[in-house]
Amino acid sequence: MKKTKISVLGIGYVGLCTAVGFASRGYNVVASTHDSEKATKINNGTPPFYEPNLEALLEQSIRDGNLTCLVNQTKEAVLTTDLTFNAVGTPSKSDGSIDLQFIEKSSQEVGLALCKKNSYHLVVVKSTVVPGTTQNVVKPILEQESGKKCGSDFGLCMSPEFLRQGSAFQDTIHTDRIVIGEYDQKSGDILDRTYRDFYTNDGPPIIRTNLSTAELIKYASNSFLATKISYVNMIANLCEKIPGADVKIVAAAMGLDKRIGSLFLNAGLGYGGSCFPKDVKALIAHSRKLGYNLELLESVESVNKNQPLKVVEFCEEILGNLKGKRIAILGLAFKPKTDDMREARSIPIIKSLIEKGATVVAYDPIAISRAKDILKNKIKYAPSAIECIKNADCCVLVTEWNEFKNLTPSQFIKNMKKPILIDGRRIFSSKAFSQKMKFKAIGLGK
Ligand code: UGA
Repeated sequence: MKKTKISVLGIGYVGLCTAVGFASRGYNVVASTHDSEKATKINNGTPPFYEPNLEALLEQSIRDGNLTCLVNQTKEAVLTTDLTFNAVGTPSKSDGSIDLQFIEKSSQEVGLALCKKNSYHLVVVKSTVVPGTTQNVVKPILEQESGKKCGSDFGLCMSPEFLRQGSAFQDTIHTDRIVIGEYDQKSGDILDRTYRDFYTNDGPPIIRTNLSTAELIKYASNSFLATKISYVNMIANLCEKIPGADVKIVAAAMGLDKRIGSLFLNAGLGYGGSCFPKDVKALIAHSRKLGYNLELLESVESVNKNQPLKVVEFCEEILGNLKGKRIAILGLAFKPKTDDMREARSIPIIKSLIEKGATVVAYDPIAISRAKDILKNKIKYAPSAIECIKNADCCVLVTEWNEFKNLTPSQFIKNMKKPILIDGRRIFSSKAFSQKMKFKAIGLGK
């Protein structure tokens, strides 16, 4: 079968991983962006963000001539390919509702290109958009700008992405399921064939449905995972009031029940990143507009908002007034294996510590340069974990990078002014640490 020629709009995590995924399997892929700096990096084989395992495949795809990144050339991208994945960003507005400006603008550009195209083209929305967007926003724009009819002249699908940062490429290749929301059968059949060809025979299950259901599957999935996290954090907070209780053991035992499952039950400082916080807010706002209050998700948000500040309370409990105290922060990124600082839990923690007059020194293996854009010179940045904890009055573990897991009590005792460790992600053995130094952790009863 002749391989479908693919274009991808937007080169964030979803866009670039989709582009590299197809290109690395021999498809001809054209990516398009408005950011010339990022395009230059991609064309030189360098991802514009840190993502394990992506660089080698990107380099290979560029070298093989399977991937090119264009700047401001949506028309060219559409005209030279058969199928366009639209993966542009969908940020939040200040009221939490979704900002559709990029999806609207890119749909206009695709529509204008379709106007010049003589053959059938399939448009696939991959961005996370609230239910109804593909049908009521994207389709009318495409039809208006192209003067053509959806369903006959061009096709339209909505196919959400479930990849995680830090394992983005692996998740693209080994996804648990594919969701195809289709405007009509022909559009769905073409995308179905494309995915089956990409994943070959033993690919993931494919769920075919309508556009709005596909859109909701993405929000329902992310909101459910966020709910699991806030749920276990709520139990963690309860554990702290019960002498001897330990959320790690509670969660491990709960997770063995197949109906519950063990994943996403790690108690800690709450969820951050570019997806869960934004998607939970957008679903709440969208549902409110439809006249239904998502009370459960409102509570999920509220638990998540308070969770990071718990470690600041712990600092105060142990040290009293924080004025002039030196606090070491281990980990800045919103999770390990990424340099992404969006909605990182480190930000509210550090802001609160500074407000209380503490001096903050932070270390992160990858995210320091991105953190500097946000935290500027309000804090000090250390070149290593050991330098970070030197002379500190207290250390707070915020992001569970692997390299922190090897730190030993004696390293804290040797380097800190007072050996006090607050484990915000439960990576240290409470037994080993509390025997030798002052140790406090999320979800550990006194
Ligand atoms: C999330 C989803 O997991 C992906 O399936 C989805 O495609 C993506 O959002 C998206 O919508 O694009 P991501 O935000 O990259 O992926 O990262 P996760 O691994 O889900 O972690 C999100 C946050 O939850 C992190 O701050 C992490 O520390 C926190 N988390 C995760 C916990 O606090 N506890 C856990 O048990 C798991």
